[in-house]
Amino acid sequence: MEVVIRPNADAAADLVARVIAQEMRSNPHLVMGLATGNTMEAVYARLVQMYREEGLDFSACRTFNLDEYVGLSSNHANSYRHYMNHHLFLQVNIDLQNTHLPDGMAADLPAECANYERLIAENGGIDLQLLGIGQNGHLGFNEPLSAFRSRTRVKILSPVTRTQNAPLFARPDQMPHRAITMGVGSILDCRRCILLATGEEKATIVARAVEGPITSMISATALQLHPDCTLILDETAGSQLEESDYYHWVFENQPEWEPFRTATPAAGKNGHQAKLPAVKKPVEAV
Ligand code: GLP
Repeated sequence: MEVVIRPNADAAADLVARVIAQEMRSNPHLVMGLATGNTMEAVYARLVQMYREEGLDFSACRTFNLDEYVGLSSNHANSYRHYMNHHLFLQVNIDLQNTHLPDGMAADLPAECANYERLIAENGGIDLQLLGIGQNGHLGFNEPLSAFRSRTRVKILSPVTRTQNAPLFARPDQMPHRAITMGVGSILDCRRCILLATGEEKATIVARAVEGPITSMISATALQLHPDCTLILDETAGSQLEESDYYHWVFENQPEWEPFRTATPAAGKNGHQAKLPAVKKPVEAV
């Protein structure tokens, strides 16, 4: 696990977006795992900007989201399908057929979960998984005691998660009690993981996830077992880490981070501002 601490939330989100863009440019057929939540909005806004200003090309990439609420249709304002369409998919040149989220309305939920795992495998597995972290340390909706070998399945949402997410609903009691989520094991199978956390309210759980003992009580501690995982934090989210001087030193000195140290986003692969691709915009959610 590697930890990078940036001066503020914008710089942290910018770095995440630039890492994603670098991966997309080196592999246009990238299979991306995507996450939702307030923290990710800045990343998607930055990717949309790169699409518009640098011609970042989403046309061949495929995406799989971590999770979806059970019982919310794709058109529901709080569904994660709606979130993704709004913040990213309908703003870039991605083919909506290549974007996948679990179907929270499926009549047979276990079959839907098994199908989601099968679809990920058929696409060759996830190359780059973007992650946020819940206040209880969940990844996706892997609530406390999620097995580290768990696969996509239905989880009952914990009281902490309900308290965290219910205010996002027009009426808090509309928040579903269940969600389909990729498992901790599914996440650990991804080739590279990037977790973004910003803000003081994440400082305690980030410190426990990074420097604490591995425990299924905090799903994010499983990332300590992943061979290629980077946590990108702002100063406040990293404020309770004991080894923050070391993490700063690594970012400033590791050759792999050299292209990312400047604040100015790198130019497109060919070093020019690419012509903007035409945007095709289906209005309805799929
Ligand atoms: C939800 C998602 C998680 C996400 C978390 C963080 O619970 N299921 O995948 O990490 O929100 O949300 P925020 O960024 O709003 O703190």
